[in-house]
Amino acid sequence: MESFHLQTSSVVCWLCIASIVVVLVIYGNFDAPVGSSDSKLEYPVSISISIPLVQLRSKIITTPASSVADHQSNRSTPHLLANQTLPRELPKAIRRREQSKLEERLARARASIRRAAARGDRNRSSIKEEDDDVVPYGIVYRNPRAFHQSYLEMERKFKVYVYSEGDLPITHDGPCKDIYSIEGRFIHEMENGAGARRFRTKNPKEAHIYFMPFSVTWMVKYLYKPLSYNLTPLREYVSDYVRVVSEKYPFWNRTSGADHFMVACHDWAPHASAGNPFLYNTSIRVLCNANTSEGFNPQKDVSLPEIHLYGGNVSSKLISPPSSTTPRPYLAFFAGGLHGPIRPILLDHWKDRDESLRIYEYLPKTLDYYSIMLQSRFCLCPSGHEVASPRIVEAIYAECVPVIISEHYSLPFSDVLRWEAFSVQVEVSEIKRLKEILEGVSEEKYRWLKENLRIVRKHFELNHPAKRFDVFHMILHSVWLRRINLRLA
Ligand SMILES: *[C@@H]1O[C@H](CO)[C@@H](O)[C@H](O)[C@H]1NC(C)=O
Ligand SMILES: *[C@@H]1O[C@H](CO)[C@@H](O)[C@H](O)[C@H]1NC(C)=O
Ligand SMILES: *[C@@H]1O[C@H](CO)[C@@H](O)[C@H](O)[C@H]1NC(C)=O
Ligand SMILES: *[C@@H]1O[C@H](CO)[C@@H](O)[C@H](O)[C@H]1NC(C)=O
Ligand SMILES: *[C@@H]1O[C@H](CO)[C@@H](O)[C@H](O)[C@H]1NC(C)=O
Ligand SMILES: *[C@@H]1O[C@H](CO)[C@@H](O)[C@H](O)[C@H]1NC(C)=O
Ligand SMILES: *[C@@H]1O[C@H](CO)[C@@H](O)[C@H](O)[C@H]1NC(C)=O
Repeated sequence: MESFHLQTSSVVCWLCIASIVVVLVIYGNFDAPVGSSDSKLEYPVSISISIPLVQLRSKIITTPASSVADHQSNRSTPHLLANQTLPRELPKAIRRREQSKLEERLARARASIRRAAARGDRNRSSIKEEDDDVVPYGIVYRNPRAFHQSYLEMERKFKVYVYSEGDLPITHDGPCKDIYSIEGRFIHEMENGAGARRFRTKNPKEAHIYFMPFSVTWMVKYLYKPLSYNLTPLREYVSDYVRVVSEKYPFWNRTSGADHFMVACHDWAPHASAGNPFLYNTSIRVLCNANTSEGFNPQKDVSLPEIHLYGGNVSSKLISPPSSTTPRPYLAFFAGGLHGPIRPILLDHWKDRDESLRIYEYLPKTLDYYSIMLQSRFCLCPSGHEVASPRIVEAIYAECVPVIISEHYSLPFSDVLRWEAFSVQVEVSEIKRLKEILEGVSEEKYRWLKENLRIVRKHFELNHPAKRFDVFHMILHSVWLRRINLRLA
């Protein structure tokens, strides 16, 4: 206990939080005239700040160490190998100097992003030509200039250290198909893919952020006893992992894990992350299950889009949707199991009620899911067992305007994207008025939403190898944004 308290106080010295900041800049500044955007269709919308601008991580959470220590006393997980040699210890003064150089670079990045945000313009002629096709501009972004600048700074500067600790299959791998595929895709991209070539560093001292490449989906597969409903083995694995890296390297203790991140799409990832209280409360957790009433904190955590890859690929139907003039005879579409609290309400009100609303529990075998999506104007995306739904990304691919029906869901990339420009949100209490609400969307607004969907689509695309501004880079950018809000003194 004694040593823990010492540890905590030194952590407080290390962690001096800049109160600024860039996320504020990117969330904010919405008051710029929206009419000047380059998007072809313009629709006046009222703009509001959706996330409170509280100061980030203004204090270190001092959770008693006992919960960690308990796990440490019993090494039940055989999958971690503590076999690498310790990084050479540098004298403290030199370490500090290196650290402050890193932080100065980040401070410069932060300043340049703030300048871009202040310019606030959408002046395309000031943007380099090579970026012309991908450059963020227009109404779908909260602040296109700030985002673009932040993205470029990330490309120039961001360095990620991937811990090599841990064995296959649970670390250094993850599912690359089916519903949790984004978990494995991210881990592989970060370890070996294009993302690794650009952002990964082998020198932990020059890293801004530390990645713990374990897969919660594989923990469930290999450690969880089916039907036991006992998630302790998952928490123990995570606890062990953090213990191993925090004993071997100085980095975790320096910030209590604030400059560390994990990526997981499994529903139980939030529970697994509770294996270490600092991972849960201080580190950046990149999660599909971004339920703000279950500990997800949008100020430090990142919402991960769920992408369902049947057999490992996006359906070819979704890759090339029909032209925008192709008629879409159905007003709305949903098919899916009665998971969670929201879907029963939806089916209760609308199943078999109305020809134009195609609402199914199980889609009849004679019908094709994606074909109906492509024939529908709106695609309903109600939460199931967890807040995220793969339907959102499928709808974006299908150019079918997503209708988000969820509670406590922090939407992916909402720090840079304005979801209200390419989706519709319906409160659970308004489900009974669903038809009226969707019919109330004017033709002009509908075309505007669809036009914007096409613009954001690239941010949700999964490419192998990853391409600029695609989903891999957007996820990393969300991590980057949270990292530059943090300044180590
Ligand atoms: C360690 O785990 C074993 C089996 O899971 C259990 O029987 C034992 O009581 C545990 N020991 C401690 C100190 O928690
Ligand atoms: C662990 O380290 C020892 C000695 O450094 C080495 O011989 C052995 O191959 C290592 N094992 C693994 C799995 O890396
Ligand atoms: C746009 O940027 C260019 C180059 O930076 C500058 O010359 C021009 O005056 C700007 N236009 C507006 C309308 O701000
Ligand atoms: C980090 O802190 C833990 C718990 O206080 C301690 O056991 C560990 O040795 C520390 N790590 C390093 C590298 O000093
Ligand atoms: C996170 O912090 C809160 C508030 O301090 C605490 O109640 C909770 O137990 C912590 N969570 C975990 C998983 O340690
Ligand atoms: C997925 O795509 C890859 C590469 O295009 C192809 O080799 C593979 O057969 C596809 N898998 C399925 C199930 O369609
Ligand atoms: C989100 O968390 C709350 C609080 O635990 C829970 O009641 C709700 O069912 C969760 N939502 C989903 C969709 O899981």
